[in-house]
Amino acid sequence: MTTAPQSQIALARFKDAFSGSPRLFRAPGRINIIGEHVDYAGGKVMPAAIDFACWVAARPNGLDVLRVSSDLGQGDLPLDHFVKQGDWRDYVAGVAFALADAGHGVQGYDLAIASDVPMGAGVSSSAALEVAVGLALSGGAVTGKDLALIAQAAENNYVGMACGIMDQFASACGVEGHALMLDCATLAYQPIPLPATACFLIVDSGVKHQHTSGGYASRRADCETAAHTLGVALLAGVTDLGALDQLSGNPLKRARHVLTEIERTQRAEIALVQGDLMELGHLLNASHASLSADMEVSTPEVDRLTALAQATAGVYGARMMGGGFGGSIIALVEPDLAATALEAILETYSVYLGGRPGAFVVRASAGAGEVL
Ligand code: GLA
Repeated sequence: MTTAPQSQIALARFKDAFSGSPRLFRAPGRINIIGEHVDYAGGKVMPAAIDFACWVAARPNGLDVLRVSSDLGQGDLPLDHFVKQGDWRDYVAGVAFALADAGHGVQGYDLAIASDVPMGAGVSSSAALEVAVGLALSGGAVTGKDLALIAQAAENNYVGMACGIMDQFASACGVEGHALMLDCATLAYQPIPLPATACFLIVDSGVKHQHTSGGYASRRADCETAAHTLGVALLAGVTDLGALDQLSGNPLKRARHVLTEIERTQRAEIALVQGDLMELGHLLNASHASLSADMEVSTPEVDRLTALAQATAGVYGARMMGGGFGGSIIALVEPDLAATALEAILETYSVYLGGRPGAFVVRASAGAGEVL
């Protein structure tokens, strides 16, 4: 799928709803190759921006209001005080308020939004929206790490989801053809070229996730309890796995996931640099087992879909992706066998699900920017 039609949709929508010539901004969704549920624990993650994106056509309107026309509806969002709506409008207004909190002047804007990032599928449609809106409302002036932090603050403080930095960072800082090795404690990052022999499939489990409900927050709280017991600010600060003996119950399970996932992510970086896709595939499989058994963020459908993908010819490895409780899986596959593998997975899973879920091959794309 190409993203070009979405840019046309955003521009046409602007023309229908508003007047004048807008500027056009784009921010992508993301995959995460490995390093799941470790961003908020200060570990390293390996996401990549993808070729599905949110587009925003934007022009200042001289008023004290954001006037929005989008796929999800229309709305006038006042800028004098934040009014929580419990829907997509919180992401848009939240970004304006987060920009203001960070000391940026915010003025009224007309915004027309179109996105082809699938919603609730674990590929960060909300981060793409936040980052694209942040870029637009700052007139393209706030970029990179600063843009990611403002988008994350919007989600944490105005939407009410205590997410880490990974999704917004990948959307803001992605590099075409590369994964990002991001240290979530320091926000230092390094783009790593993806070999031409690697291809990533995304298959939606058909179970929509909703991270503002409790599961994600309770996993994060368990990690904080474990860190507190072990006397570190963030779990990534634990260097000896033997320290886990001091924990029990859920904090033990969550910490065991985080620490082993950090180790797997280190090994994955080496495997990727060496082009060792068999090893990378094994690490993806091990990540899934840990997310399912210790982090307990998978679902029966996601486990079923992952097992199916892992057993499919041409697939090096597969795992659930993102926060969990539904959403998509990611599979690392040989490029020549990608189409056949995708079809084989879908054929069986569609029978189980009772319908054909969304599935696509993704390419690592550039991060957010203005489209000139
Ligand atoms: C969601 C959050 C991220 C990250 C992942 C799990 O996508 O938004 O910050 O915690 O879950 O790795």
